[in-house]
Amino acid sequence: MAFSLSTTQKLGCTRVRAQRAPVKRNAARSARTVVPRAASASADVPDMTKRSVMNLLLVGAIGLPATSLIGGYAYFFVPPSAGGGGAGQPAKDANGNDIKKGEWLKTHLPGDYSLTQGLKGDATYLIVKQDGSLTDFGLNAVCTHLGCVVPWNKAENKFKCPCHGSQYNADGKVIRGPAPLSLALAHVVVTDSDVVTFTPWTEADFRTGQNPPWWK
Ligand code: FES
Repeated sequence: MAFSLSTTQKLGCTRVRAQRAPVKRNAARSARTVVPRAASASADVPDMTKRSVMNLLLVGAIGLPATSLIGGYAYFFVPPSAGGGGAGQPAKDANGNDIKKGEWLKTHLPGDYSLTQGLKGDATYLIVKQDGSLTDFGLNAVCTHLGCVVPWNKAENKFKCPCHGSQYNADGKVIRGPAPLSLALAHVVVTDSDVVTFTPWTEADFRTGQNPPWWK
């Protein structure tokens, strides 16, 4: 009996060892299988530096076009004479040259309304008063109805839009529709070097007394 039990125990141990042995072999097999996969995966994934560079390139590729698109879209809604002040922009003549007051007044007589290039490239009237000096404001020539350039009618002393008949007095105040607003204003400032500049007009409209943003 003692022999039998001992044998059974031995056999039992043998069975246990026999049962455990495959587990070890399977574990070893798994380990052998996993290691190559891990090595292969790490070889496929770029290191952190490369990923950072790729992320930066991706952000740049998406961000720059998006910024320019959004900026252009926002700029579309800025009115011609709205703005927060700042440096003046030189008025330019028909040849694109900066206008100098002394030279300009030699050839532009009292009562003259001449088109110049103003803020944001808008056609803007530079006006010579009856005393031979420049007015301290320029008039944006873009009709406030649908955007035609409004010519000065010297004989009638007013602006008459050729598109739909709107009229503005000599100061650009609307006197007949369908234009809803007076012509936009710009400050005229002459620099120390005699250059005529325009700056945005952000104050009340002296022609109507309307407070800003009266141009909207
Ligand atoms: S665009 Fe000037 S009246 Fe219509």
